[in-house]
This record gives sequence, structure tokens and C-alpha cells, in this order.
Amino acid sequence: MKSEEIMDICMRRGFLFPSAEIYRGVAGLWDYGPLGTRMKNSWENSWRKHFLSLSPNFHEISTTNILPREVFEASGHLESFNDALAECSSCHSRFKADQLIEENLKISSEGMNLEEINEVMRDNNLKCPQCGGSLSAKFFNLMFKLELGAGESTKEAYLRPETAQGAYLAFKRSFKTLRNKLPLGLAIIGKAFRNEISPRQGFYRLREFHQAELQIFFDPDRVNEHEDFESVKDKKLRIYSIEDRGKEIREVKCKDLDLPKFYLYYMAKIQDFYLETLKLPREMFRFRELDEKEKAFYNKIHWDFELNIESLGGFKEMGGIHYRTDHDLSGHQKISKENLMINVDGKKFIPHVLELSFGGDRNLWALLDLGYEKKERTVLKLPKNVAPYYCAVFPLMKKEELIKKAKEVYKLLSNEFSIMYDDTGSIGKRYRRQDEVGTPYCITIDYDTLDDDTVTLRDRDSMEQERIRIDKIMEILNEKA
Ligand code: GLY
Repeated sequence: MKSEEIMDICMRRGFLFPSAEIYRGVAGLWDYGPLGTRMKNSWENSWRKHFLSLSPNFHEISTTNILPREVFEASGHLESFNDALAECSSCHSRFKADQLIEENLKISSEGMNLEEINEVMRDNNLKCPQCGGSLSAKFFNLMFKLELGAGESTKEAYLRPETAQGAYLAFKRSFKTLRNKLPLGLAIIGKAFRNEISPRQGFYRLREFHQAELQIFFDPDRVNEHEDFESVKDKKLRIYSIEDRGKEIREVKCKDLDLPKFYLYYMAKIQDFYLETLKLPREMFRFRELDEKEKAFYNKIHWDFELNIESLGGFKEMGGIHYRTDHDLSGHQKISKENLMINVDGKKFIPHVLELSFGGDRNLWALLDLGYEKKERTVLKLPKNVAPYYCAVFPLMKKEELIKKAKEVYKLLSNEFSIMYDDTGSIGKRYRRQDEVGTPYCITIDYDTLDDDTVTLRDRDSMEQERIRIDKIMEILNEKA
């Protein structure tokens, strides 16, 4: 199976390892190995470059993973961030109710309340898969609860289930220090934590995971404008709206979609990230509109962006574009009693928030899946800007004079690019190793190099080789990048 083949490369080559593997690992917890960490850092840097350059008033911040209870009372997560859990009355095994219903009854329980879930299980005679006992559903909060301190002075806290709240808490000070201007973007790239009842699908639903989220604070009276809308108005977005369910994906110009311009502008920029920055095939991308039952509790408008991931069975959510209104800031104002109104040109209001939310790990898995090709050779055709190494340098043979020259070339390039050096095994095997981890270019130093200062440059995808001068390598590799 494709997912097993990709996971095999990930484990053998150092992309991913099960966390605490010597203790048999824990479902939903994964470590990134050396290559995986390089790839994750490159993806995050591409994300930064793409989204933070959209406005001079977009900034990255870094906030804590642990937050006090009041934050989640205000955000609504304590009350609403729940999954339905089906518990057996005999053996007390617990299952994620929506999975159980979907797998056994082939229907979706998305948006059902507890009563409806219990009714579906009862009417369809759905029993405990372990012992055949009867099942009843209850809600289970997905946040990890912590106790800060000891003794009498303990404080209830939670690991953040999304990075977003850190930006809302930092808004008041950031707005002031950044000279009181809207729109203001606060991005956080970091970890989030969810106590998934039964994490499955390999690397898709994790308990500790990475997010890259941009919260854009803006004046709600200006939701139907964006200063750069002209530049995207004719861009065709690939959409799958509620009315398209069961039909084909449509391509519709931004200006013809019935959504606020501020929202559409960022839809266009998200699509650009996948199709232009990462250069993924167009047909693999779509926006999917969520219906009232599927929308997150804090959203007024909610479309996911999805990639078609064969190893996960089709289009899967990579993130969402969320119009959260003043849900969070008003919630924090109410619970904290802190005034979060701002004053812009004499107008006092609580800004609205548009959130661009990306799941880091699932995006990486998607790139591995889309790049994986197994024909006469196994190759990961990763986007050049996220491959763990941009280039590998080899001496043709393990001979002192070739090694010396290869190390010189390695040194020359390693300040500029992510470079790997390898002199182990036959040259053919070394090419195969680099193909398997997605390295776009390999440079080989041979005896001609010693005579004429030229090297062989091999392209991962075409496998074509060209002879280039050492003093031109930097320029050529930069051009190809
Ligand atoms: N911050 C939105 C999400 O975690 O999905």
C-alpha cells in the first residue's frame, strides 16, 4: 500500500519516527528525524515567505503552549471543542462515535447531537466491536488538562488546541506597539495539542501536531474590500461548494464568487501557495465549503482547502480559511473584563478576524504522497523549496584526490544551500538514495574535474546530466531554484 511504502522511506531515511518507539510508541505521537526536520523547516519557511510578505503589517509572534482555563472559557473550547465518544456499558471500551458509525453504517454523523447519535446507534443495532455490549454516546473534550503548581495554589490550565488563541491574547499589545494600524496580521507557527480519542490514518490526525496560522485583524465595515483585490479578481479558484456536492470541482473567477472580497483575496493567496509556491498539480487542489453542521463553532464563513492524497483515500483537509468575526476578542473581553476595543480614526470597535489555518504535519505528508513515484526507480518528486536537501555532492569514487575536490565543492555550496555529502557505495546507489529522499540535484566530481574544473550536474526528475564549470555552479543552482 502506498501509505506503507511512504512510511517505510520515512523511517529508513530519517523523516519520521514513532515517538517513544522503544516503549512501542504511542498512537498519534511522532518525532521528526534529521531529514523530516529539514523538510518541516523548509515548508515553514516557504509558508512564512509567502504569507508574511502579503503585507508590511503582518508579523510572526511566538506564544506559550500552556494557557489558563479562562482563555478557553472565553474562546468556547471548554464548552464546544468536543468529540462524541461511544462507550460500551459492559466492557467500558471507548470509541470515536463518528468513526464507528461511518465505518459500520456508512453514514456521516457530522453535526449530530448526542441524542441523534444514540438514536442512530440504537436504531441500527450498532454494538461494541470488542464484546457486543450496548453503546451509549457522551461528549469528550479534546483538550489536555494540566494543573500548574502544587498544593493549595494550583491553577487549572490547558495545552493549546490551536495556536490562534495566543494571537488574540497578544492583540492588544501588538496593535499598540505596531502603531495602531489595521489590517494587522499575527502569525504563529508552533505546536498544538488535541487528545484525539483514536488517532488513525498514520500521519493525518495527531495528538501533538504543528500548525501555521495567520490571524488577520480588520475593520468589519471593510470586509467587502481589499486594496489588492484587482490583482486577484480574474484568478480562477478551484471550488467545491455545498451545491457542488456529488458533482465536479468548478473553476470560478474570484470576482464571480458570492463571498466578501477580503475573504476572496486570501483564498486566492492560499491557492497561489499550493499551485505557484509549491508548484503542485492544479487538479490536486480544491476549496471545500463546509455546511452549517460541519463549520467550526467559531466561524461565520468556513471553507477548507484540500489536496487529493491517494494514501489517505482522496481529498483531505490541509487547513481552513475561517471568518471568525469578533467571536474570540469579544469572548476574551467578556471573561477578562479587559477592554479590547480599538480606536481607529475616532471609530471605536472590536476588530474582526480572518484566520488562515494550516496543519503542518498533514501538509508534509501530502507533499510526500504527491511526490512519491515508484516505477523503474523510487523517487520523491518533492517541491524544490521543501526537499530536505537541495543538492548532494559526491566524489565518483572513494579516492583521496576526488574526495578532496568534492569537499571543496561541498564547502563552496553549503553556505548557500542545504547540501548533503556522500561517498559511500556505488555512484548508482548514491543517486538512488538521493532520489528516494527527493534531492533535486546531484553533483559528481570525477577525474575530468581535476583536469578542467567541471562537474556533472544530474536532475532528479529527468535524470539528465550536464557538464558545468565549478565557477558557474552557484549561479546555475540559484537559477534552477
Ligand atoms: N485555529 C483553527 C484550527 O485549529 O482549526
